[in-house]
Amino acid sequence: MAFFSSTLTTPQTGEVPRHIAIVMDGNGRWAAHRKLPRVAGHVRGLDAVRNIVDACVQRGVEYLTLFAFSSENWRRPNEEVSFLMRLFISALEREIDKLHESEIRLRVIGALDAFDAFEPRIQELVRAAEARTETHQRLTLTIAANYGGRWDILQAAQKLAFERLLLGPTAFASPFKEADLAPHLSMVYAPEPDLFIRTGGEKRISNFLLWQLAYTEFYFTDKFWPDFDAEMLDLAISEYQKRERRFGRTSAQVRPNSGHLF
Ligand code: FPP
Repeated sequence: MAFFSSTLTTPQTGEVPRHIAIVMDGNGRWAAHRKLPRVAGHVRGLDAVRNIVDACVQRGVEYLTLFAFSSENWRRPNEEVSFLMRLFISALEREIDKLHESEIRLRVIGALDAFDAFEPRIQELVRAAEARTETHQRLTLTIAANYGGRWDILQAAQKLAFERLLLGPTAFASPFKEADLAPHLSMVYAPEPDLFIRTGGEKRISNFLLWQLAYTEFYFTDKFWPDFDAEMLDLAISEYQKRERRFGRTSAQVRPNSGHLF
C-alpha cells in the first residue's frame, strides 16, 4: 500500500485541511461547570462529534481523526471507563446506518484486543462497521480507541522486525528506513494530519499521533469539547489558512513572489 510522508516528500496542501485530527478534551469540566456528573459531558461530547462530522463533510475535509479513548484513559475510575465503553457501543450501533448513508468510511485504530477482556462486543461491532463502510470516500472518520502514539510506533516496529526475521538474519544488516516502518503504522491509509485541534485549554499532544504529527499545524482552544461547533471549526480552519507550511523549506521557496530573499 502506498503511504504518505511529510519528511520523505513535500505534501501538496490546499485551503481546506485534507486531514483534521482532534483531541476532544474538556467533557468532564463542561459537566462540572453545570454541576452535572462527568458522564453527562461525554454524552454532550458525542453530540459535538456528530456536528463536527457533518461540518467536515460540508467543508470537504477528507479525513477526520478523533481521540476517543487513550491507552492512559484506563486509569480513570471504573464507572467512567464502563460508561465510555457503553457510549461507544451504542454510538456504533445507532450511527452506523447514518454513516453508511452519508458515504462515510469508519475506521477504528488502537489496541482493540484489550477491549476483549472488558467488552467483547466492541471488536465485533467495529469490524462489522468498518467492513460495511469500507468503500465510502466522502469522509474517512477514524476513531482512536485504546490508542497511544508510542503503542502505534512499537507495534509497527514489531511487525517490521517480524517481516525481516522471515527474510533471514542478513535482512537485519541494513538499517530500518522510514519507508520500511510507515506501512505498518495504523493510519497508513491516510495522509498525515494537516491540522491538529485540541479543545479544553491544555496544550499538549497526550500521546496522540506522535509519528503522524511531524509537520502538522497545531490549534488550541479553551472551549470545552461539548461546546465546540461548526463555527469554531471554521475559526480553526481560518487560523490554519494563515500558516505558511514550509516543510523545512524557506519562505522564498514556498512563495517565490513574496519578496522574501530567504
Ligand atoms: C476527554 O474529556 C474526553 C474523553 C476521554 C472521551 C471522549 C469521548 C467522547 C467525546 C464521546 C464519545 C465519542 C465517540 C466517538 C463514541 P475529559 O473527560 O478528559 O474532560 P476533562 O479534561 O474536563 O476532565
